[in-house]
Amino acid sequence: MTTDLTTATPTTSRVLPPGFLVGAATAAFQIEGAAWTDGRTDSIWDAFCRQPGAVLNGDDGSVAVDHYHRYRTDVALMSELGLDAYRFSTSWARVRPDDGPTNAAGLAFYSRLVDELLENGIDPWLTLYHWDLPQALQEKGGWTHRDTAYRFAEYAVAVHEALGDRVRSWITLNEPWCSSFLAHAAGEHAPGRTEPTEAVAAAHHLLLGHGLAVEALRERDADAALGITLNFTVADPADPADPADVDAARRVDGAFNRIFLDPIFRGTYPADVLEDMAAHWPADLVRDGDLATVAAPVDFLGVNYYNGGAVAGPGTDGEPAAPVGGRQLRSPYVGSEQVRALPRGLPRTAMDWEVQPDGLYRLLTRLQEEYTGPAGTSLYVTENGAAYDDEPDSTGFVQDDERLDYVRTHLAAVLDAVQAGADVRGYFVWSLLDNFEWAFGYAKRFGIVRVDYDTLERTPKASARWYAEVARTRTLEG
Ligand code: NOJ
Repeated sequence: MTTDLTTATPTTSRVLPPGFLVGAATAAFQIEGAAWTDGRTDSIWDAFCRQPGAVLNGDDGSVAVDHYHRYRTDVALMSELGLDAYRFSTSWARVRPDDGPTNAAGLAFYSRLVDELLENGIDPWLTLYHWDLPQALQEKGGWTHRDTAYRFAEYAVAVHEALGDRVRSWITLNEPWCSSFLAHAAGEHAPGRTEPTEAVAAAHHLLLGHGLAVEALRERDADAALGITLNFTVADPADPADPADVDAARRVDGAFNRIFLDPIFRGTYPADVLEDMAAHWPADLVRDGDLATVAAPVDFLGVNYYNGGAVAGPGTDGEPAAPVGGRQLRSPYVGSEQVRALPRGLPRTAMDWEVQPDGLYRLLTRLQEEYTGPAGTSLYVTENGAAYDDEPDSTGFVQDDERLDYVRTHLAAVLDAVQAGADVRGYFVWSLLDNFEWAFGYAKRFGIVRVDYDTLERTPKASARWYAEVARTRTLEG
C-alpha cells in the first residue's frame, strides 16, 4: 500500500479519549539555569558549551530561562493553560554532583516543584536522564564505560527515594539515540565524540542503565508507571519500487528505531542492525544477562516524533549525501553511511524538518502492532512540536499560526491512531517554554510560551491559547 504523503491526514476523530493527558514537556538543562547553585556541578553539557564552536553563538545553560528560580511562575502558567500533566527532567549533576553522595539541596528543588505541581492538580512526569551526565562521570568514560549504567540505576533510586511518594510516572531515558549516536559518532551533542565504536558502546550501556533502573524502581515501587522515551525517524523509500531505496529505509529504521525497540521489547538486537554495524560493534560489549535486564517489562513507551524523511540508496545520480532524520549531522551516522535523504516538497520548520503528521499516525499504529500491543504496553507521545522564527508584536505576543497548525495536525494524527487501535494515552507538546535548543543554543524556539531572553518574561503564544482550549474542551475544535 502506498500513502499519499502530500495530503494531510484525513482526520475523523476530534474528541480526546476519556482520561487522555494533555501535557507539556521540558528538560532540566534546557530551562533551569542556576548551573552552580545549591551544590550542582558541571554536566557534560556545561563542559560542551565551553568548547569553541560546539554551540551556536557560544550560548550555554548557566541561566537558560531561570526556571530554577521561576518554577512557581511556570507552574502557574501550566495551570492557566489547564494542563493535565507536565514532563520535566531531573539533573543528575544537581542530585549527585561530581558522582558523589546525594545532594539534599538539589533534590529539594525537585521536591518543591513536584509539590507545586500537585497543588495545582498537574500530574508530574519525571524523566531521569535528559542528556546531562555529570562531567565527573564523563571523565571516567561516560556512557562508553559499562559502570555508568550502574551509577545511573543508583541515581534513579536516589531520586525515587526523595520523590517516589508523589511522582507516579517515571521515564528512565530520553532519546538514547541522541546520547549515543548524535553525541559519540556525529559529535553534534555532548561529549562531542566522533568514534562510531563508542557510539555503539554508549547505546548498549544506556539500554543497560535503563533496564537496571527499571528493575530497581520496580522492586521499590510495584505500582509506579515505568517507561522509556525513544526518538523515532519514519523513513520512507524515495522510490518504493527501487530495492536500493527500500534497503535505505530499512537501514534507517534499524539504526534509529529498531536498535532500541528490539532489545527493550524482544530482548535481542536485530540481526540486520548487527550486520550493518558489524565494523563498529565491540566484541565483548553485550554480556550474559544484559539483554534480559534491558527487556525488563515497561508500562509505557514514550514516543518523541518530529518528522520523517524520504531516503534513497547510494545511487549514481550524483545526489550529495544529506542529513537523515532531520538531524544536521556533520558526519554520517553508523550503519547507514550510504543513505541519502531526498527532499519531497513538504513544508519545513525552522529546523528544516519536514512537516509530516501522517508519519506520526503510521508510527503509532506500527508500534502498537509490532511492539507495544503484544507486550501490553501503552503509548504516550512524550514530545512533539516545532520551531519557527517567531515574530513578537510590541507586547511580546506571537501569532504563531504555523506552530499551532503543526500541533493541531499532529494531535489529530494521534487521535486517528487511537481510533485505529493504538493505545495512546496522552500527548506532551514540546515545549512549554522557548529554551536552550542544544547545539542551536537559543536560536530555535519551540515554546508555546515565548520567553524574552533579555527580561525572561513569559508570554503565551497563540498556540498556547489554542492548546488551553483543547485542554478545556477536550476536543480539537478549540
Ligand atoms: C528532542 C529532545 O528531547 C529535546 O530536548 C529537544 O529540544 C527537542 N527534541 C527538539 O529538538
